[in-house]
Amino acid sequence: MRSLIDITDFTNEELYGLMDCALDIIANPEKYSEACKGKKLATLFFEPSTRTRLSFEAAMLELGGSVIGFSSASSSSAAKGESMADTAKVISCYADIIASRHPQDGANYVAAKNATVPVINAGDGMHCHPTQTLADLLTIYREKHTFDNLTVGLCGDLKYGRTVHSLIGALSRYKNVKLVLISPKELRIPEFVKTDIIEKFNMPYKEVFSLEEAIPELDVLYMTRIQRERFEDKDEYERLKNSYVLDVEKMKSAKSDMIVLHPLPRVNEISVKVDDDPRACYFKQCANGKYMRMALILKLLGEAKANPVKEDRTKGLEIVVNDTLCPNHRCISQSEQELEHAYKAVDRLKGLYRCLYCDSEVRL
Ligand code: NCD
Repeated sequence: MRSLIDITDFTNEELYGLMDCALDIIANPEKYSEACKGKKLATLFFEPSTRTRLSFEAAMLELGGSVIGFSSASSSSAAKGESMADTAKVISCYADIIASRHPQDGANYVAAKNATVPVINAGDGMHCHPTQTLADLLTIYREKHTFDNLTVGLCGDLKYGRTVHSLIGALSRYKNVKLVLISPKELRIPEFVKTDIIEKFNMPYKEVFSLEEAIPELDVLYMTRIQRERFEDKDEYERLKNSYVLDVEKMKSAKSDMIVLHPLPRVNEISVKVDDDPRACYFKQCANGKYMRMALILKLLGEAKANPVKEDRTKGLEIVVNDTLCPNHRCISQSEQELEHAYKAVDRLKGLYRCLYCDSEVRL
């Protein structure tokens, strides 16, 4: 049995397998309409969501299964102080698979460690959002027919935008994908993505400020919202919130076959007038998300049936458990009852480790 916590939990072949399955579902929906009959999905949403929660629910219903869950932390026992571990153990008694979104980094990994059913990370704080990446990948695949040799611009809030972190993890798998990271300096890509993915896999990249200057060379433009809810300094948000607006004028200097993606919700970073441009693919991306989530539910339930023993995600990693507190105050390890502080070695000789839950850098 496996969970999906980080997009790198899946191999390249598995990602292609999910895309093939999603394409087959699109072509033959009736073949899958009873595939999850008698199975229940629990959607645990401790943070707001429209697309992710409803597309998970639609996915399970279209597979013939049923859905239970909650859509805000205030309507769950988290409001009474229940731990993530206990919540996961309890929901495992009621559902066959869990999709969970939580404001704290690493929270869904704690859920997976404690659940006895597969757990899908539907977004954890500013850390990861692997199922949005599944939607992004299918959209790129359907529109561009390849991932190799693409120049991908990621624009906006690259610091707090968890969808960007997961997408870069997936793009690192393909040949010669060039990244153009477009953001204000305050919202640059975090170290755990830059060092552990971009530099580790030798991805060609540049960090720039200007969208206007970057746009002519892009094959894919991935716009993101400035993540208001994650800013500690509200004045900084006010200053940065209008950093980028993609409009009809800027689209004129883009390639005729560039595609525009956005995980949505959009606030003001794409003018509504761009929606009519055939290169705007963000609503197709929402539809693709549902099919990829259907494929994912089928895969994880199939694996759990074939082998109910939980797979250890830390297999092969060097893990150190000690009293050092993770420096990231948004990390689940800061608040979860009696959760051991665990770190994975990045460079043991230099004493460089990362928190097992949120990937923050720690020197031990
Ligand atoms: C994203 C998220 O929740 O991280 N939304 C989504 O799931 N499609 C992006 C965002 O909220 O800006």
